[in-house]
Amino acid sequence: MISRRGFLTASTVAASAAVGAVTASNLQADADAKAAETAVGKRAVNPHGEHQAGIALELQTHSRFLAFDVNPKTTKSELAKWAELITDDIERLTSGKPVLADPTEQFAGQPARLTITIGFGPRLLQQLNVEAPNGFAELPAFKIDRLTSEYSDGDILIHVSADDPITLFHAARALTRDTEGFATLRWVQDGFSNAAGVKRPGTTQRNLMGQVDGTDNPEIGTDLFNDLVWIKDGPAWAVGGTQLVLRRIKMNLNTWDRLSTDQKEGVIGRKLSNGAPLTGSKERDLPNLDAVDENGIKVIPPYAHIRKAAGKAGQQFFRRPFNYEVPGQEAGLLWTAYCANLTEQYVPIQAALDDGDLLNVWTTPVGSSVWVIPAGFTKGEILASKLFA
Ligand code: HEM
Repeated sequence: MISRRGFLTASTVAASAAVGAVTASNLQADADAKAAETAVGKRAVNPHGEHQAGIALELQTHSRFLAFDVNPKTTKSELAKWAELITDDIERLTSGKPVLADPTEQFAGQPARLTITIGFGPRLLQQLNVEAPNGFAELPAFKIDRLTSEYSDGDILIHVSADDPITLFHAARALTRDTEGFATLRWVQDGFSNAAGVKRPGTTQRNLMGQVDGTDNPEIGTDLFNDLVWIKDGPAWAVGGTQLVLRRIKMNLNTWDRLSTDQKEGVIGRKLSNGAPLTGSKERDLPNLDAVDENGIKVIPPYAHIRKAAGKAGQQFFRRPFNYEVPGQEAGLLWTAYCANLTEQYVPIQAALDDGDLLNVWTTPVGSSVWVIPAGFTKGEILASKLFA
């Protein structure tokens, strides 16, 4: 039988062993938390360079697109002042610092791959009476469009993305505060991608229909990418920039969910399991649009999305798909294309899709806007200064 003294000693040893175990597991948890913070929170993207940041990189988890209408009385020289303010904000925020006179400086410190990308709409360029880059124009009307002004058009675009929603909130709020003296908020659209650490870098995410989305895209940093995406001639403020088409495309997931896997795969022309074309087995296999089955029927159906979207050489662009959801109401894609010339690259593909893409049965464009994303800026330079000179 254990004595009272023996019991006390045994329980003290057990208790101190437990404390030791708790301390060890706390230390491990601290180390894990530290590692996670370093991996996600501390990562910073350089805002400087030939091109603006926020385009040629893996999607961050959270994204916000804010469109503003420039106030009728705002002058070009006032916009030059705004650009100075915004440049300073971008440099501070993306390196994890608070902005000047920041009312919530406590939020700074975790850049979490924050990027801030600025664009300008066609009406503003007309108003300023400046030359637009080649091919930049309002889009023609498409039959499938059911656009509302709630999510369309605008003069200034501020696109903020980060791997952390509080970093994103802080940055978006600071940028809005510094823009509101010059322009009025027109719309805000939020999108999301996989959380950092969920998807291996270099793999392709799924959209909310469940499809692997973004496979056939020019690879960042290649000559093809650079040719298709960056503006090479035209006004100096735009060279090194790009043209962005942002379409809010609503999905009818209730009717989509009723289709069989075969039917869903026929609509796109790719497998749901891994995104491989119906004529291949791996995601990166090239689709064979001519292949027929034993009955002479095209393996990739005539109405399939990837057949209709295939286009001719030079008509490709860089797609970045941002999922969106208004819980209980609407889900879809903030579909974006970045290209050097939207009239030559994007419009013909959209026209082909307007005409017989079966995916249109389950998708409806409800918002649309086009933007020139000016060239990048280096340390000491002001973003878009040549535009407002
Ligand atoms: C909600 C709407 C849309 C959905 C769900 C969607 C989905 C997809 C999917 C799953 C693929 C195959 C994987 C890939 O290569 O990324 C794809 C490819 C593609 N999509 Fe879309 N898409 C949508 C809208 C659009 C629009 C509006 C355009 C252009 C105007 C477009 C152009 C393309 C192109 C160019 C490809 C690559 C085609 C090829 O393989 O040659 N998509 N899309």
